[in-house]
Amino acid sequence: MTPDLACPTADTPLSHPTDPLAEQLASWDGEMVILKHDRETGVTIVIAVHSTRLGPADGGTRMRTYPNTTVAIADALGLARAMTYKHALSGMACGGGKAVIAIPAPLTGETRTALLRRYGEVLHRLGGMFQTGPDVGMSSADMDVIAETGTPYVGGRSPAAGGAGDTGEITAVGVAAGIEVVCERLFGDVGVRGRRVLVQGVGSVGAALARRLKTAGATVLLSDVSEPALTAVQRSVDADDVPPSDVYATECDVFAPCAVGGVLTAETIPQLRCRAIVGGANCQLGTAEDAERLYRRGILYAPDFAVNVGGALGGTGMDYLGWSAAEAHARVVAHVRDILQRIFDGAERGRTSPETVARRMVEDRLRSGGRHPASP
Ligand code: PHE
Repeated sequence: MTPDLACPTADTPLSHPTDPLAEQLASWDGEMVILKHDRETGVTIVIAVHSTRLGPADGGTRMRTYPNTTVAIADALGLARAMTYKHALSGMACGGGKAVIAIPAPLTGETRTALLRRYGEVLHRLGGMFQTGPDVGMSSADMDVIAETGTPYVGGRSPAAGGAGDTGEITAVGVAAGIEVVCERLFGDVGVRGRRVLVQGVGSVGAALARRLKTAGATVLLSDVSEPALTAVQRSVDADDVPPSDVYATECDVFAPCAVGGVLTAETIPQLRCRAIVGGANCQLGTAEDAERLYRRGILYAPDFAVNVGGALGGTGMDYLGWSAAEAHARVVAHVRDILQRIFDGAERGRTSPETVARRMVEDRLRSGGRHPASP
């Protein structure tokens, strides 16, 4: 195919507003998006830099298939914003960003390795504007490969390579702490013993969470779209499973979404039979109004970006600040407990949803330019 080399002139009309990409960018509040077509694999790489207000944009790299590029970009934009919120609440000097590697089909072996090295080169060229770690579809072994070319902008590498390793476990530590806070508020009990918790998604966060809850005496229910993944986790965690089609209507004390985002919507919220929602998935709400829907239904929703911060906070601490695993655990638990109590207290005082309060706290910190508004 001969490329069209004609340059647009100043009077070449832009097709906006009927141009979906322009509209998508215009309706987003972030700083910039980098798009790359990887010719060798047909993969599209999207790097969304939502905010560098509090520090370099930082967020995981997600690898998965999408129905089309528009959906892949939309995912990166929403996830990058969530990282800004997450970091702002955690007090870290990091901005928010996210990368999506949209693959047409699963990639393995040398093809995957070579793609990851090329991706690392892109990170290197960006010179620290965006730094990353693992997210859905990526492992610490992948991070080791990306780091070959992307150093020093790659976290979450394997312990053998001097990194923090899988961030699923430390993320689950924070989510479990959030579930405890919710149980204390709703039931007055300390701990989750005897509580029924439904975990949606048994990836690295969901599986680790299920194990922790079980050890703490909860009744755990599991659901996943992948039968083999479910069976593998059930080998070590004694838990009944729920078919994906029944997950919203199943009665439980706490529903813990730990798969992909957008699960709390006008369609699913009326079906819910849980008292609270606390999970590890990013971007659980379909739209901001869904927080109001949950509030009106009397379901206590812990904003995802407040409770799923363990990978970001603990991972960064272990990767860059020399924290031991024990120290990272302790700090994540203390942080999630504190921030969630403040969010729920503010929601009670203001008779509003926890999401509204959490977003206000984020805005305050962004406005104050990195200083905690309360600090001198
Ligand atoms: N991907 C995880 C998250 O969304 C962990 C992570 C955080 C990875 C920050 C890299 C950087 O929080």
